[in-house]
Amino acid sequence: MSEIIAIQHVVVPGTFDPITYGHLDVIARARRLFPKVTVAVAASVGKNGTGPVFSLDQRVQMIRDTLAESQVAAGIDVMPFTGLLMNFCREVGAGGVVKGLRAMTDFEYELQQADLNYRLSPGVESIFVMGSPEFGYVSSSIVRELANLGSDVSFLVPPVVEKALKEHYGGTR
Ligand code: PNS
Repeated sequence: MSEIIAIQHVVVPGTFDPITYGHLDVIARARRLFPKVTVAVAASVGKNGTGPVFSLDQRVQMIRDTLAESQVAAGIDVMPFTGLLMNFCREVGAGGVVKGLRAMTDFEYELQQADLNYRLSPGVESIFVMGSPEFGYVSSSIVRELANLGSDVSFLVPPVVEKALKEHYGGTR
């Protein structure tokens, strides 16, 4: 058996279009487990096949602003990335990827990605955390849909995101 080296640095990847309290929960859990976390914001199209509503710069900035106002910012970086996640992990020297699982519907998609990422980079661990049940139903697409229909989303996203959603979809309906 080869020498075991404990993972010190993990990546929490996603499209974050926009970041939700569910994402923040996963980021905080990753930080509890590992001393260094890089939140990696993908430029590319996510699992829904559509392009992001918010620009890459906006998505990165919303996460940075949110973390700056939270208690969990220490040891967490936010970076944009393009191309393959495994290449990004290699570039930043991360030994693992942490993702949240909400329901069985997440599992198949995540297993497929984990298998593929293993083929690309067997040294990078895919690590899954169970999100808080409080946020089990929260997704960026649900947040966008509610905001588009004029609903209050303050219980799902941080204030900076709520403001950006209002600006994007219009304040009152
Ligand atoms: O928030 P999302 O949309 O579920 O995040 C998906 C993401 C960005 C993590 C995934 O699409 C990804 O890793 N994209 C980078 C491209 C890549 O590495 N593809 C091969 C692995 S599936």
